[in-house]
Amino acid sequence: MRASLSLVGLAAVATSVVAQKVVPLSFSRAGPEHQSLRKRAGTYSQELNNNLTGGGYYAEVALGTPPQPVTLILDTGSSDVWVLDTNADLCQSRSLQSIYGTCLATYEPTDSSTYKVVDQGAFSIQYLDGSGAEGDYIKDTLHIAGTGIEALQVGLAENSSINSGLLGIGFNTNVAADKPYPNIVDLFVEQDLINIRTYSLYLDDLNAETGTVLFGGIDTKKFIGQLKSVDILRDTQSKDYTSFTVALESLKINSSSSNSGGTELITQETPVILDSGTTLTYLPSPIARRIYQAFGAVDDTRDTGLVYASCDLLSSQKNTTIDFQFGGPDGPIVRVPIDEIVLDNVKGYLNIGLQLPDLPFNDPCSFGIQALSGIYLLGDTFLRSAYVVYDLTNKKIGLAQANVNATGTNVMEITSSGIPLVSGVAAQETPSKSSGSSSSSSSGSHTDDANSSSGTGSDQATGSATDSAAPRAMPALNWEAGAVMLVVTLFSIAGAGLFAL
Ligand SMILES: *[C@@H]1O[C@H](CO)[C@@H](O)[C@H](O)[C@H]1NC(C)=O
Ligand SMILES: *[C@@H]1O[C@H](CO)[C@@H](O)[C@H](O)[C@H]1NC(C)=O
Ligand SMILES: *[C@@H]1O[C@H](CO)[C@@H](O)[C@H](O)[C@H]1NC(C)=O
Ligand SMILES: *[C@@H]1O[C@H](CO)[C@@H](O)[C@H](O)[C@H]1NC(C)=O
Ligand SMILES: *[C@@H]1O[C@H](CO)[C@@H](O)[C@H](O)[C@H]1NC(C)=O
Repeated sequence: MRASLSLVGLAAVATSVVAQKVVPLSFSRAGPEHQSLRKRAGTYSQELNNNLTGGGYYAEVALGTPPQPVTLILDTGSSDVWVLDTNADLCQSRSLQSIYGTCLATYEPTDSSTYKVVDQGAFSIQYLDGSGAEGDYIKDTLHIAGTGIEALQVGLAENSSINSGLLGIGFNTNVAADKPYPNIVDLFVEQDLINIRTYSLYLDDLNAETGTVLFGGIDTKKFIGQLKSVDILRDTQSKDYTSFTVALESLKINSSSSNSGGTELITQETPVILDSGTTLTYLPSPIARRIYQAFGAVDDTRDTGLVYASCDLLSSQKNTTIDFQFGGPDGPIVRVPIDEIVLDNVKGYLNIGLQLPDLPFNDPCSFGIQALSGIYLLGDTFLRSAYVVYDLTNKKIGLAQANVNATGTNVMEITSSGIPLVSGVAAQETPSKSSGSSSSSSSGSHTDDANSSSGTGSDQATGSATDSAAPRAMPALNWEAGAVMLVVTLFSIAGAGLFAL
């Protein structure tokens, strides 16, 4: 997570929580003497990251009365919603834009009749990669998923090194403010939009242009097999729940060709954070090194910010997966296929000035796992293979293998009893190739004629779960009337000239 791999996607955990643990992380704003180097690295890396990862996942929402559209990065790793003021330094300064990119969308408080200042100058957030924003805390109406959340406390950035605001949906214990406040997830419940503080995240695969976050519901067509839940772990220092940390129980390279049965790569349970705002996956160095070895990957993060692996792996290891198991020996397993880890994005960077190190292979791809010390993040290169249900009320995470490229929808409400341990589809569905790239036009708006009334599988009790009430199966896309759940389509913005070169 060095300077050169930053901005767009790495908006991660607010430093208020992790500062002590993350001292070695560098990359804050560069001093003048490093400006040009920083600039070059920053710009190509932004586009690199953007193409590599789909550029992070953005939600289109609107703030104020009348609503002003803003595009925000969805971030499970932080807890504040913030927007760029029209007058923010970045949005006014060409020289800043040449480093950080032009502002995606801004908000003009004086144009909103429902805008109120809460705490002037009190908004200040920094992310793990050193990027951040500062300004005022305000309140205004946020329009999301066809509904309005009234008087949401929002950061209004006057200074920012990120070219869009964020939609932080973590625990309210992790807001950047000195004075804690009910954040967006709390207000969803307080304003009776959903039952308990839950949402499901489906990023879909690398080629898909959209994913979804479903507040208050689960879509059983979007995952394979049984949803299993694990405990969210408390922060070791504050002893509070501040991030979506879960126990990584087992990590194996599962290669049918090697027939090794998958060598265990971790020797003890390792706490990892599920973080949609982080583009890559960051594992402890010894583990990352063993994975590099297994794939012949070369760590050049020190210089170009990348780990390289041969693109040949995409064919020679086509069936290989990296298998993550959580919680315990019976816990959920997410298999990440090689083509979500080995990313064919290097050629584009060569065109814009990337200088490759000497590599023992001819056709370099980049590698979606890197090493980090102190804090371990499962970002988008992991999350695209998973269906993740976050239950902030009961401090549980539900996990299953994602059914990528899914076209069907069967949305269920999550009731006050928490994550229903339902089953999804039986196996990865392979959509018929009839309509070309059908997945790209999908925005979750397909209704499905399938057996939605059956409840799709069994509810299995776990531990203390009082799942007497089976979750109600809801007709797809019927959330507006019932107002018990909300769906937000997430866009990945690839290329699209977002970043000045
Ligand atoms: C913050 O932005 C304002 C303009 O919006 C600018 O005048 C000021 O210098 C900036 N402060 C910092 C610390 O960058
Ligand atoms: C999903 O669709 C993409 C094309 O958009 C394809 O490359 C990929 O292999 C598909 N994934 C699966 C698991 O079928
Ligand atoms: C490897 O993955 C396959 C499914 O792709 C699974 O059936 C098998 O059990 C896995 N092997 C190990 C050792 O986990
Ligand atoms: C991958 O698996 C498929 C069938 O499961 C098999 O036909 C193919 O040969 C395998 N490819 C490799 C590279 O092992
Ligand atoms: C990123 O994607 C855009 C659009 O697909 C493409 O034009 C551009 O060359 C790519 N850049 C890199 C660095 O791969």
